[in-house]
Formats: sequence, structure tokens, C-alpha cells
Amino acid sequence: LREHALELLKEVGNEQQLNDLRVRFLGKKGELTEILRGMGGLSAEERPVIGQVANVVREAIETSINEKVEAFKRAELDRRLQSETIDVTLPGRPMPHGAVHPLMKVIQEMEDIFVGMGYQIAEGPEVETDYYNFEALNLPKNHPARDMQDSFYITEELLMRTHTSPVQVRAMELMKGDVPLKVICPGRVYRRDDDDATHSFMFHQIEGLVIDKNIRMSDLKGTLLQFVREMFGSHMQIRLRPSFFPFTEPSAEVDVTCVQCAGDGCRMCKQTGWIEILGCGMVHPKVLEMGGYDPEVYSGFAFGTGVERIAILKYGIDDIRHFYTNDIRFLKQFNRM
Ligand code: PHE
Repeated sequence: LREHALELLKEVGNEQQLNDLRVRFLGKKGELTEILRGMGGLSAEERPVIGQVANVVREAIETSINEKVEAFKRAELDRRLQSETIDVTLPGRPMPHGAVHPLMKVIQEMEDIFVGMGYQIAEGPEVETDYYNFEALNLPKNHPARDMQDSFYITEELLMRTHTSPVQVRAMELMKGDVPLKVICPGRVYRRDDDDATHSFMFHQIEGLVIDKNIRMSDLKGTLLQFVREMFGSHMQIRLRPSFFPFTEPSAEVDVTCVQCAGDGCRMCKQTGWIEILGCGMVHPKVLEMGGYDPEVYSGFAFGTGVERIAILKYGIDDIRHFYTNDIRFLKQFNRM
């Protein structure tokens, strides 16, 4: 019996077969158990002898089965170690990764610059009321500067904001006459324009507002010069040209040194050496008043600039549409900047 069992054991190929064998020889109805059961019919002398032999046989079979179990376990472990080996010396596969959009880069950079000067960042709705977008900014109904053609109206009272100045009105209301008020408002704005290389029906602005006692035009100029130099480099100059906005008095447009200037044939600045980047001025007394500030006590300055324009100058981009068409070859260039 032992020989037979051990012989069969050699051929066992998996755990299922091994189990079958265990049942066949050592189980309740197994062959060895049968023999032990039959011992009742043996004489008193024969019984211990046969019993001993049977025990030896059982132990031998058991030991062999256990060895086999161990062997199976080892083989399984080996197999798994084999199949799960990782070659840690292999070079990694490059993962494609995105880049920060150039417009977001410029916004973040401008936010950093102004936060460094103590400004807070304010956001507001893109769908605005006529009051915040125009009226509170000294643009009453029928004012010519409100040219209907330029705005996307939703109802008579609601429109897509045409600038981020309404956020400044909201900031004034929130402050309830408290000073100093120093905010910048980044965000999307909408105007009815036909898209081309320099126009888009949607673009981004960042506007700034400061209100306190004794705020003067020189504070505005110093702030803008500081901003321009941090943004484009310490060699930059600015110049202010008189202009008009209904919400500021006096008003000015600001030019900066042409950074991409190619000398004689420069397309960017038409050979003037200057490029316009923003509008600004001293907050109009009526706007202060409507915002809850006494113009006899407080004064303030405001400025507004197009993010696309800043990005175009900073990175030498030739078409505003590049920002929105999401050509991966264009966007990828901002990976490493
Ligand atoms: N809101 C103006 C515009 O959209 C920019 C501006 C802001 C001008 C603040 C002066 C002061 O063109």
C-alpha cells in the first residue's frame, strides 16, 4: 500500500489531485483506515504488530503529502515572483503633461505683483446688471459711450459685462466706505466685435482700484511703473497720454516701451517705440459717491488692462486667436516658461 501510494504521489500535478489522494488513503473511508478498522478480527499478538506497521505507513504517506504541499507552495511563489518582477533600472516612460495656459500665467503673475503691493483679489459675475456695468460707473442710460452695438444684452437690465469695472463697484459696496480699499479684479469680459487677429468677442481684463485719503495721480503713475517693470523688465518706461473714460477724471492711456521692437520696420508700435497697454485715471467723484465714499474726503485711482494684450507683448504672439483655438503646438511652448 505504501509503495502504491508513494508511486501515485510522484505523479500528482496539482493540489486538487493531491487532495483526492489524501482522501483515498487517509480519509474516513480511505484504504488505510479500512485496514485499521479490520484489526478487530486479528489476534492479540498480531494486533500491535499490524497496528505499528499501519502507523508507520500512515506517517510515511502523510509526510510525503505534506512535502508535496510545500513543494506546490514554493512553486507557486516562484511563479509569482517571476511574473511580478519589476526592473527598477528601466528608464521611466515619459508622461504627457499639460502646461499653464499663457493667459492664466499672465493673470497669476499680475496677481502676484499686486498682492505683493497689498492688493486683494475680487471676482464678480460675468452676467451683470445694467446698474453695475454702466450706471454706477457714471454711464447713465442714453450715454453715447454706452454704444449698444458693443454689448451682448440678455434682457433690458441684464448683459454680459463689457469690462471688469462692475466688480470694483461691488467691492466699494462691500467695504461700506471703509479704507484703504485696494483690489484687482481679473476676469472674462464680452463685447460685440468681429473676431480677427486683434479682436475677440470675449477677452480677459484685470482692473485695479485704490481708494483712501490723499490718493494722487502720482500714486497711480508710480504703481503702474512698478507693475510694468516687474512684468516686462526693469528697463521699461511708461508714458501717460490724456484720454477719456466716464468713470475717471482726469483719465489717461498708458504706453510702454515697445519690447518686441524690431527698429525701423516694427509692426507692433508702428515705429513710435511705444505701445498702449492700459487705461486709467482718478476715480470720478460721482462714482465714489455712488459707491458710498464721500468725494470731499476720499480719492482714488483705477486702471484696466487687457490680459491678452499683455501676453501678446510679453511672449511676442501675433494673433489673439491663438489663445482660444487650443493648438497643442502653441500651448506646449509654455511648458517650460
Ligand atoms: N474699464 C475700462 C475699459 O474696459 C478700462 C479702465 C478701467 C479705464 C479703469 C480707466 C479706469 O476699457
